[in-house]
Amino acid sequence: MSRMIFTLALVSAAAIQIAAYAQSPLTLKSVSIDLPDRSTMFSGPGSDVVNDNCLACHSAGMVLNQPALPTATWQAEAEKMIHIFKAPVDEKDVPAIVEYLTRTKGTK
Ligand code: HEC
Repeated sequence: MSRMIFTLALVSAAAIQIAAYAQSPLTLKSVSIDLPDRSTMFSGPGSDVVNDNCLACHSAGMVLNQPALPTATWQAEAEKMIHIFKAPVDEKDVPAIVEYLTRTKGTK
């Protein structure tokens, strides 16, 4: 008997909760926030090809926080992304990507 009362109490507690929820429905509203700039995208001339191909798996910071590298090393990086990590990059885009990376983060 006491078990039944306990069950009834549980059920009615749940019902009260549901009723309370139904009376005050959530009001959703849009807010505007400013996210800190954590170099999530590439910028500047020629950046479209890099933004289009290199942001599926990591942010631009992963690339831009590397030390300045010579062209051959950027070439090897792009090839590594494609062949080792299976980045879906069209081979015809590789020269433009390497050119951008060398210009932006190349050894002078
Ligand atoms: C399919 C997913 C994927 C795409 C797309 C991708 N990468 Fe990566 N990238 C990775 C992974 C995985 C790592 C290694 C992360 C780690 O070590 O924690 C990485 C790391 C890097 C690093 C750090 C150095 C290194 O070798 O680990 C550089 C630089 C880099 N990527 C450049 C690029 C460039 C340039 C592109 C566009 C051509 C690109 N990535 C696109 C997966 C990807």
